[in-house]
Amino acid sequence: MAGLSGADIAVIRSTWAKVQGSGSATDIGRSIFIKFFELDPAAQNEFPCKGESLAALKTNVLLGQHGAKFMEYITTAVNGLDDYAGKAHGPLTELGSRHKTRGTTPANFGKAGEALLAILASVVGGDFTPAAKDAWTKVYNTISSTMQAAL
Ligand code: HEM
Repeated sequence: MAGLSGADIAVIRSTWAKVQGSGSATDIGRSIFIKFFELDPAAQNEFPCKGESLAALKTNVLLGQHGAKFMEYITTAVNGLDDYAGKAHGPLTELGSRHKTRGTTPANFGKAGEALLAILASVVGGDFTPAAKDAWTKVYNTISSTMQAAL
């Protein structure tokens, strides 16, 4: 991925391994989307869980499934850090294109990224150093610009 140093790649891989080892993709993915709706309440209206309370979101099966799929694509990007063009750009472009019909706007991506970083910080704890945060910001910006280019 352009702009990433070897140290960035190492810290992304170690922190993502810690996230994956900390719980199920369903639970972690769901918590990212609950955080996203807290930061961007209007975005919840674009999802099948539109109008549901926080308590209901915590057990909503569809939101959990969606969270797990979100996690899969972050994993695709992490696995493709050494060859983003070959391994991750294609799947993320197709994913962005599938968001066209869902009402997703470029403006939604900023808060979605903040939500991802907030959950990473809370799960990874002290290992989520300023250098880790910078590296994750670069990775998320690349993912979101790839997806937005296909919107
Ligand atoms: C890095 C950013 C994102 C990733 C990796 C991502 C990933 C996904 C994935 C994997 C799906 C499942 C369906 C499919 O594969 O096409 C999905 C569905 C969806 N995404 Fe995203 N997404 C992202 C950002 C957003 C944003 C910013 C919004 C804006 C509100 C959004 C709205 C939706 C909606 C409404 C669905 C359908 C959900 C459902 O029917 O349960 N996504 N997303």
